[in-house]
Amino acid sequence: MANNTPSTKGMSHQKVETNSFLMIVLILLVISIGGLVEIVPLFFKKSTTQPVEGLKPHTALQLAGKDVYIREGCFVCHSQMIRPFHAETMRYGHFSLAGEFVYDRPFQWGSKRTGPDLHRIGGRYSDEWHRQHLMDPRSLRPYSNMPAYPWLADRMVNADAMPARLRVLQLLGHPYTDEEVAGAADAVRGKTEMDALIAYLQVLGTSVR
Ligand code: HEC
Repeated sequence: MANNTPSTKGMSHQKVETNSFLMIVLILLVISIGGLVEIVPLFFKKSTTQPVEGLKPHTALQLAGKDVYIREGCFVCHSQMIRPFHAETMRYGHFSLAGEFVYDRPFQWGSKRTGPDLHRIGGRYSDEWHRQHLMDPRSLRPYSNMPAYPWLADRMVNADAMPARLRVLQLLGHPYTDEEVAGAADAVRGKTEMDALIAYLQVLGTSVR
C-alpha cells in the first residue's frame, strides 16, 4: 500500500469527522450512555432512596410554612444544599445527604445564593429572632438586602386546605397516619403564615447534625 493511500479504517473515521449529522448523532449516543451509567444506579442505591434515620415528613404546620417559602420565592436567594467542601461544612454544618430530602416534594435545593444556605438553619436562632428578621431584616443585619415580609404576620394559614395536602403526600408514600391527615386542619387553625414559615425553618436540616 502506498504511503498516501488511507487505510479502510482511516476512511471510516474520515466519514465521521466530515459528516456533522453523523457526528451529532454519535455524540448524543455517547453522552446518553454515559449519563445513564451515572444516573440510573442512583435510583436503586439505599443511600439516595431511603430516608436518613429519624427523618419525619413535615407536620401540617411545617408543610404550610414550606408552601409560604415557595410562594414568597425564598428559593430565589437561598439554596438548601450544603456541598461537601470544607468552606461550606465549616460555615453551615454537615453537608446535605440525599436521604434527608426523601419527604421533600418539591425539594428546595436551589442554586442561587444571594443569601446564605438555609439547609441547616433549624434550631440556629430562636423563633423570635426569625420573626424580627422576617418583619424587618435590617433591624438585625443593617447591610441586609433581603426583603421584609411583614404581611405574613397578618395572614392566616388556610387550614381547610391542609388535610388534602397531607393526603396526597400520604398517597406518594410519606408515612402520615390517618389521624394526622384528619387532624391537619385543626393543627394549623389560628396560626399565621409567619408561625408556619418559622416552624418550617426551625426543622430544616435537624435530622442530621
Ligand atoms: C433578594 C434575596 C432574598 C430573598 C428573596 C430572601 N432572602 Fe433571606 N437572606 C438574604 C440575604 C442577603 C441574607 C443575609 C443577610 C441577612 O441575614 O438578612 C438573608 C438571610 C436570611 C436568613 C438568616 C440566615 C443565616 O444563616 O443567618 C434567613 C433565615 C432567611 N434569610 C430566610 C429567608 C426566607 C424565609 C425568605 C422568604 C420568605 C427569604 N429569606 C428571602 C436574601 C434574601
